[in-house]
Amino acid sequence: MELFASIALLCFVISGTTAIGQPASIAFSETKGALKLGGTGLAPTIVIDSKEWAGVTRAGNDLANDFGLVTGTKGKVVSGTSGLSNTPVIIAGTIGKAPLIDSLVSAGKIDVSNIKGKWESFTSTLVEKPVEGIDQALILVGSDKRGTIYAIYDVSEQIGVSPWYWWADVPPKKHNALYALPKTKTQGPPSIKYRGLFINDEQPALTNWVKSNYGGVYDSRFHAKVFELLLRLRANYFWPAMWASKFHVDDSKNGPLADEMGIVMGTSHTEPMARADKEKVKPWDWKRNQSNLKKYMQDGATRSKNWEVVWTLGMRGDGDTGSPTLDAKSLVDVFTAQQSILKSTLGVSSLNTVPQMWCVYKEVGGYYQAGMKVPEDITILWSDDNSGNIQRLPIPAEANRIGNAGVYYHFDYVGDPRNYKWINTIQLSKTWQQMHLAHEKNATQIWIVNVGDLKPLEIPISHFLDMAYDMTRFMKADSTDEWLVSWATREFGDSVAQGTTEVMATYGKLIVRRKYELLNKSPFLYSTTNYDEAENVLHEWEALQNKTQALYDQLDSATQIAFFEMVLHPVLAGRIVQQVYINAGRNKAHAAQKRMSTNELAADVKAAYAQDGVIQKRYHGLLNGKWNHMMDQLHFGYNNWYVLCRSDTSRAVLTSHRQDPSSNTMPSVTTIGTTAPSSGLMGVSVQGSTASAPDSTPSFLVLDPYTPENRTIDIYARGSGSTDFTITPSSPYISITPSQGTISYPSGTSTIRAVISVDWSSAPNGSSTSSIIITPKSGTAVKLTLPLNNVAVPAGFKGYVESNGGVAIEMAHFTARTASPSGASLEVIPNYGRTHSGLTLLPVTAGTQTTAAGSSAVYSFYAFTSAASAKVVAYLPPSFNVDPGSPLKFAVAVDEGTPTVSSPVPSSTLGSMPSGWSESVINGARVVKVDLGKVEKGAHKLRVWLLEPGTVIHRLVIDLGAVKESYLGPPESAKVGF
Ligand SMILES: *[C@@H]1O[C@H](CO)[C@@H](O)[C@H](O)[C@H]1NC(C)=O
Ligand SMILES: *[C@@H]1O[C@H](CO)[C@@H](O)[C@H](O)[C@H]1NC(C)=O
Ligand SMILES: *[C@@H]1O[C@H](CO)[C@@H](O)[C@H](O)[C@H]1NC(C)=O
Repeated sequence: MELFASIALLCFVISGTTAIGQPASIAFSETKGALKLGGTGLAPTIVIDSKEWAGVTRAGNDLANDFGLVTGTKGKVVSGTSGLSNTPVIIAGTIGKAPLIDSLVSAGKIDVSNIKGKWESFTSTLVEKPVEGIDQALILVGSDKRGTIYAIYDVSEQIGVSPWYWWADVPPKKHNALYALPKTKTQGPPSIKYRGLFINDEQPALTNWVKSNYGGVYDSRFHAKVFELLLRLRANYFWPAMWASKFHVDDSKNGPLADEMGIVMGTSHTEPMARADKEKVKPWDWKRNQSNLKKYMQDGATRSKNWEVVWTLGMRGDGDTGSPTLDAKSLVDVFTAQQSILKSTLGVSSLNTVPQMWCVYKEVGGYYQAGMKVPEDITILWSDDNSGNIQRLPIPAEANRIGNAGVYYHFDYVGDPRNYKWINTIQLSKTWQQMHLAHEKNATQIWIVNVGDLKPLEIPISHFLDMAYDMTRFMKADSTDEWLVSWATREFGDSVAQGTTEVMATYGKLIVRRKYELLNKSPFLYSTTNYDEAENVLHEWEALQNKTQALYDQLDSATQIAFFEMVLHPVLAGRIVQQVYINAGRNKAHAAQKRMSTNELAADVKAAYAQDGVIQKRYHGLLNGKWNHMMDQLHFGYNNWYVLCRSDTSRAVLTSHRQDPSSNTMPSVTTIGTTAPSSGLMGVSVQGSTASAPDSTPSFLVLDPYTPENRTIDIYARGSGSTDFTITPSSPYISITPSQGTISYPSGTSTIRAVISVDWSSAPNGSSTSSIIITPKSGTAVKLTLPLNNVAVPAGFKGYVESNGGVAIEMAHFTARTASPSGASLEVIPNYGRTHSGLTLLPVTAGTQTTAAGSSAVYSFYAFTSAASAKVVAYLPPSFNVDPGSPLKFAVAVDEGTPTVSSPVPSSTLGSMPSGWSESVINGARVVKVDLGKVEKGAHKLRVWLLEPGTVIHRLVIDLGAVKESYLGPPESAKVGF
């Protein structure tokens, strides 16, 4: 509560909207020298030369309309400057295309030297007396067609129309007055030349939605909406849906529309020469059917020759599989044929300026590894592993290729280790880490991201495209949260921006632990025994939901819809799925202890599972069903994906394992009988033990003053009935809350959790034991033994403190950091990884470091245990060695000991996954154990070096011999003095 109040106050002083991350040129109140562009009853006339690109005029019409959305008074577009003395004027146009703009340039009215000849750049400036009869005008000049279009949509965004106004129903921000500031701003060229989206695996959600809205065809009406979104997001490149559709054939207006609007068309890695997979000639076999394949490719070139295209070259097998007859040599023949078709069809002698791409996806990597020569003018599009981990980036030998390189990335996937295609499961800080690395390694020609159905991935899409447009805003390791604040401000307003940022940052950490579709992989992931892990995770989701709901409640009803679609829905829906699986796991654990809560948990799982349907209906019912079907994706009961078909590219094998389950299935739950055992109604268990007293005796883990988790006792009913009980500690320095109660089933409370606390100032020093007796009114009393360890770190010690044989460290909490003479330093990525933060080496261009000279981070810790063979468990992301010659590398040492250097990712050949890949992708972590040898009782320093840029560590656990089994590791250890 306090938190929300202070945020609201803080944000009160933050002003207006800007285009995310870009300088403002619009204001909402009168400023000296500013031009009033619009307001109630006043709107600009937008002048666009009749010779201008049709796509620019189209964007101009959108801007005119957007003024209406914001002020209630729509602008209009005209083609000439006469008769405009009584209206605010915006003149928009492209150098070399609009005579009006060219004449302003030659008259010296505008300076375009900063943008002329550059890719997708623009200048926006306020000019006095641009032409006779106009006192002042806002001039938007593009270096090319999209430069001008981005300039126009930049004004839209600044006046208050989100790029997501239609696709995510972000309400336009109302304003009474809009002013163009008296300043010049210049943007572009973008960091990445071709930036875009791939709509893929669109069945069932998007396909059903398209059926309802566009008659089942991905037609030009549908694409007009998509293209407008892309341009408003400052993207330019698109791979159309391809599983059951054919972009150019389904609607002959699709191609001309892309051309008109200014979208560069591409096709996926499996669809060469601007043709759809579903248009392929059969047999799709270069060796057996070459002349027909060539004709097919020729026809694709001919069809699109007058349009902007990034030509997909090479080929794979039929339908997103490897080809059984291709090899590295014949693939070069394919390139040769394709390039010769392009030269003759486009009438050029060199293809140096013709954008062409070859995607190194799956088996294709094997050909490259085999030494295949790729013509220099073809962009090599490196792929991630379909799970957001880029496999390879340009190495020094590949620098300075004419076609350069790019990245094909995934926010959604159908395949191994398991489909993820329901709702947003993207940790933005991870996307940042990967794409920042790609940018710095010069994979800057193309970034394309697979966005599944598009709709539930609004936030990661915005983030990805904003990075691609201007990476200079994303050079720091903490740039993600900064971006989230500006994104949330734009979509929902200042008052909830900070809170929304915290929500999405937390959501990223909870979801990177495991995709929803994999939560039922056996065995159940979170420990139901140790560290209260399963319950704690559920509690984190519940706290997140409460916080998100409180933000939602503050919003006006129109903004609530957008907030629901992008923020509240994934939190609610995600939490319910977690609840179903976590409580199904607890149900089984409780059954083994004969707890009546077994039956309550079974009922809870059923209710939560039903609630999932309610949340889906709520989404589908928004705005009279505008997004009906968008949540059609099944997400419970995946069970046939975790198969080892990685190296098996045969279509038949993949197909038998590849698709969704045929319906949602609730995980199984058990119920138990309600007759209490002869030993009585009352049962007792404690964390860290599966035993259930009085039948078996649970043993406590040691409790010391630094134990981060509570020691608790669960007292529960083991049948129908009711009994009072009392809890009596044997020592006066132990207190227990509550110390008595009533357990009762089926009505009343079946389980009571009591928390133990110790007055350490009166407890004996060192190790001792105490006992706790739980006495029911009827039945058998239970006596538990509580081991205590009353220890204290020496005065002045600063660092982590061991408890129960372990020290769990969050990366941001180092006690010191040493700089490196090379200038490289270890930096914290906030909200990265599964629990807290990541540590990485920046700049990533620093090159390989040594332990002698490299920057290190120091985590001081105090051990009460002497361990003969201590280990450190390092949790890393599932990253790849993007430069196989310089694999990821880190080192650890205790005190002045010799550092142990680890290369966590085994080497692998392109087109195959490194060993341990599947497990680390499933777990959102690659877990590496390093032996530390002997660690004596006392104060120590754990020193960590990251020796290769791109290496990230997101958690460390020092195991002094007694760390228990759990998924995330023990809760963070106590910190003293810092
Ligand atoms: C990236 O390209 C720039 C400009 O061509 C060059 O100076 C730099 O060394 C390249 N970086 C890498 C990592 O190849
Ligand atoms: C969430 O809110 C509910 C309802 O107000 C409350 O019962 C619950 O304790 C809250 N949970 C957390 C973790 O804050
Ligand atoms: C321990 O128990 C106390 C009292 O119930 C509670 O306030 C605190 O949040 C608990 N701490 C943890 C780590 O669960």
